[in-house]
Amino acid sequence: MLANPEKVIQSIRDAGLQPPEMLTLMITGRCNLRCRHCWLDCRPESAAAPVPVNVVCDIIDGFTRLGGTGLSLTGGEVLTHPDWFEILVFACEHTGLKEVCLQTNAMLVTPHMAAEVSALSSGRLSIQISMDGASAKSHDLVRGKGSFNRALRGLNCLLEAGVGPRIRVAFTEMAHNFDGIPRLMKKLETFGIRRMVSSTLVKDGRAGRTNRLALPTPDQYAEMVNFYRFDAAFRTLYDKMGSISAIEWYKGRSISATQVCSCIKTPFVTAEGRMYPCVMLSAEKYSVGGIHQRSMADVVLAALPLWAQLPVIERKRRRALRDCRGCPGEVHCQGGCMGRAYAVCGDLMSVEDRCALRRAVYQLG
Ligand SMILES: C[S@@+](CC[C@H](N)C(=O)[O-])C[C@H]1O[C@@H](n2cnc3c(N)ncnc32)[C@H](O)[C@@H]1O
Repeated sequence: MLANPEKVIQSIRDAGLQPPEMLTLMITGRCNLRCRHCWLDCRPESAAAPVPVNVVCDIIDGFTRLGGTGLSLTGGEVLTHPDWFEILVFACEHTGLKEVCLQTNAMLVTPHMAAEVSALSSGRLSIQISMDGASAKSHDLVRGKGSFNRALRGLNCLLEAGVGPRIRVAFTEMAHNFDGIPRLMKKLETFGIRRMVSSTLVKDGRAGRTNRLALPTPDQYAEMVNFYRFDAAFRTLYDKMGSISAIEWYKGRSISATQVCSCIKTPFVTAEGRMYPCVMLSAEKYSVGGIHQRSMADVVLAALPLWAQLPVIERKRRRALRDCRGCPGEVHCQGGCMGRAYAVCGDLMSVEDRCALRRAVYQLG
């Protein structure tokens, strides 16, 4: 019997969880690249084939019935999906979603595709383009030779089609590319791009198996925050378009973290049809399969007893984390993200891997 979405929403709240708001949905595991940092191990010949368009639309529909309002379509590379545009039209024009984001490396964008995207009148659509460096050297180290120039060509098609204001750039922070962020931001501003979001490399999947890529160092994080503090031009640019973890931690350092894990506000669904309670929590133990065959409401209902443990574990974790006592960021950070802790050391109860980076920022005063 199909579960009633309203009853499921109530059951989510009764379990001490938050109903889903923003779904990250993989529509294919296949990618035109084999990025050195990919936590999902995506590659051209991935076994996770493009998900049929009717299945993708059913998932989106089931998600909106549970009250979801934001969707991020991802892969693999979304533009390798033969029906990517049909999926985008469905999400933008036939659902009540307030935000729809297409995550892409932009390399396959043609003038024709850009014109199609531009013709979509939806103000809810954003195109998120990954750029992992301000130069070909640092981007290509992660994504492969020639990928920077091809991404710029795709980006240019979108800009020429007038899509610029809907573009945001996503940057993965690593030791080799981190210092280039202000330069990249300046470049993006000249293109008319209004937003750049960055996040720290997660040493999971392929990233966990390479020595070529490392997290930025605590000194790099402290220097970036000091640059923000003391360089007025960068501060103005950053406040207009940026989001860098180090600077956001610094700005929020006196706010206490009262909220425990946001499960299942930002769930993640893989191209194989597994659903995870949070895009940051890759623990197999807390995932459920079968979303290509069952309604999202049914899957969520089946998973609730499992997911209800997560906020309980997180409260316990916060009480147990002795390493945090005396840290200048203790009140704000509280061990950081439990999903990251699991991704990197396989233990939900440990502090996250950016502990030293966070400390370096919090002690700037
Ligand atoms: C998996 S990709 C898929 C979408 C698309 N092919 C692209 O390149 O943007 C989605 C995003 O995840 C980021 N990503 C991949 N592996 C990561 C890792 N180990 N840590 C942090 N972000 C990562 C990528 O840089 C990209 O911005």
